[in-house]
Amino acid sequence: MITRETKVGELLNNPIARDVLAQLVQYAGVNEKIVLNPIVKSLKISALPKFAGKALPDADYVIDTMIDLFNQEANTKQPSKSNAHYWWKEAVVYQIYPRSFQDGNGDGIGDLKGIIRRLDYLKELGVDALWLSPIFDSPNDDNGYDVRDYRAIMTEFGTMADAEELIREMHARGMRLILDLVVNHTSDEHEWFVDSAKNPQGEHGDYYIWRKPKDGGHPNNWHSFFSGPAWEKVDTRDEEYLHLFSKKQPDLNWENPKVRDEVCDIIDFWREKGVDGFRLDVINYISKTSLEDGSATLGGLLQFNGIEHYFYGKRLHEFLHELRQRSFGDAFTVGETPGTGPEMNKLLTADEREELNTVFSFDHLENLGKNRFDDYRYNLNHLKKSFSRLEGEFADYAWPSIFVENHDNPRMVSKINSNEEYRDILAKLIAVVLLTARGTVFLYQGQELGAVNVNFHDMSELRDIESINKYNDLIACGKTPEQAWQTVLGGTRDHSRTPMQWTDETYAGFSEHEPWICVGDKDACNVAAQRNEETSVLHAYMTLIQLRKEHPTLVYGTFEPFESAKEDVFCYYRDDGKERFYIEINLCERAVKQPNTKGKMELVYSNYMAQGDGLQPYEANIYRVLR
Ligand code: NOJ
Repeated sequence: MITRETKVGELLNNPIARDVLAQLVQYAGVNEKIVLNPIVKSLKISALPKFAGKALPDADYVIDTMIDLFNQEANTKQPSKSNAHYWWKEAVVYQIYPRSFQDGNGDGIGDLKGIIRRLDYLKELGVDALWLSPIFDSPNDDNGYDVRDYRAIMTEFGTMADAEELIREMHARGMRLILDLVVNHTSDEHEWFVDSAKNPQGEHGDYYIWRKPKDGGHPNNWHSFFSGPAWEKVDTRDEEYLHLFSKKQPDLNWENPKVRDEVCDIIDFWREKGVDGFRLDVINYISKTSLEDGSATLGGLLQFNGIEHYFYGKRLHEFLHELRQRSFGDAFTVGETPGTGPEMNKLLTADEREELNTVFSFDHLENLGKNRFDDYRYNLNHLKKSFSRLEGEFADYAWPSIFVENHDNPRMVSKINSNEEYRDILAKLIAVVLLTARGTVFLYQGQELGAVNVNFHDMSELRDIESINKYNDLIACGKTPEQAWQTVLGGTRDHSRTPMQWTDETYAGFSEHEPWICVGDKDACNVAAQRNEETSVLHAYMTLIQLRKEHPTLVYGTFEPFESAKEDVFCYYRDDGKERFYIEINLCERAVKQPNTKGKMELVYSNYMAQGDGLQPYEANIYRVLR
């Protein structure tokens, strides 16, 4: 048990504390060695308020909340290793943002018929499974992440018959379908919410989180991730409802067993239709430990008040286990879990605990102390550090999800270096890192072409609610329109949501009709052109996916870092006793000395046409070690 008498150094014996400290260090952008400083380590927790002084004005509150959090797993048995083989460990998964992938009916919005039309392309690319961002009926406040009816297809995307055809066509090609299940919240237009707002004592009265306003203000000081407070009034009830995202995305009350029954029924419904797996949207937020105010200090650091009360809630494991037992069964599950660390992930995904199969962690997506809206150049040494951790011994307990792009993030190539000269080289470097990694690989549409950020001109071109709210917020805080625009432009999720670029035609072969959002640089980057070009990024992806399939060593083999202390190079071996591969990557824009390896090797892939003495800028090579 951790108490106020525990020393800071001893905290590191507690897995949850290790994760939380690492997270805070990441957000604060300070060196993690601070926690290992002998003076800090020997302090009792109770001494921290004095030590931290003004930096932690609500220190006592933070300490009590953290002690509770750390003790949550005090008696939990650490899971054992598992080397079991599953299809989902071997799969290369491709994420589709259905609105932007392929329009099949000429209305400028992507749809299921469009996806069916492109299945042969995806098969040729070599992907094994598709994860579709939500396809359910929705008023689209957050493009489908606000579900109105979990058993109906969004009108713009097609019909249930289209969904059934998609499942059939995918299975006929040996591909699997993963749906995006958004059950932390629904749309405010969902019939449960409509009824809940009208009838507090009715069947759905307690399906959401309602509280009375406090002292004339909101029930607590939590922030919504989409700007403003996380609470909203309705005319029909004297309470406010919690919404961690937009006002139109009220949070479900998972404490209510009827809500969990409903979620199980939804999963059963889709499993019966043949769906093979689920991506679970912000699933680590479903259990709210308390509804007390969030710490102002933590809120300042994390940019949102309240997170400590729900990012790893008390009943999270219990709820996930229940879903697995009752409904998921052997369907694949990947949880989106912002803010959890590797120790929590072990507990969430260890085979024997029967909760989730794997999770998406996000720490690798931004450098220390940075967030998506900061204007900076991403340093790839951070990716090396994060992946080395995930793919090393942690993977024995918690199989990682390996990705660098999705519908919530700008394009990775642009983050690293926007110099056009390195675009293809970098895109292929990323392909090498992902497809030689120990974990399930997730690619995002367009990544296989080396897509980059879009040259948006002004706010009128953006569609995302997060960007629009953020812009308004910045203006309200006194920023000039130009300053607000520059901030939003850097981090907007719309960079990855423009139409898939199939050809150089007016609407990029995505549609005949003007699309719902503008088209990116289709002339420089499209499937048709890259298909005919052997040295294209698309061919690199095809080659590397094939290589991974032919060599299970790249999936299951051990990950052995080489010369890991050397900055700017990322070198490692993958070995399963049968085969051994050596991967060497130059992480920077200048040429570097090649680390010395011993033994004979044969080059199997390079992102450069010819090798030189050292490693050229961003050079990435894969060798087979000859025994
Ligand atoms: C995470 C999803 O990836 C994001 O797109 C969405 O806006 C939020 N969850 C809310 O559902």
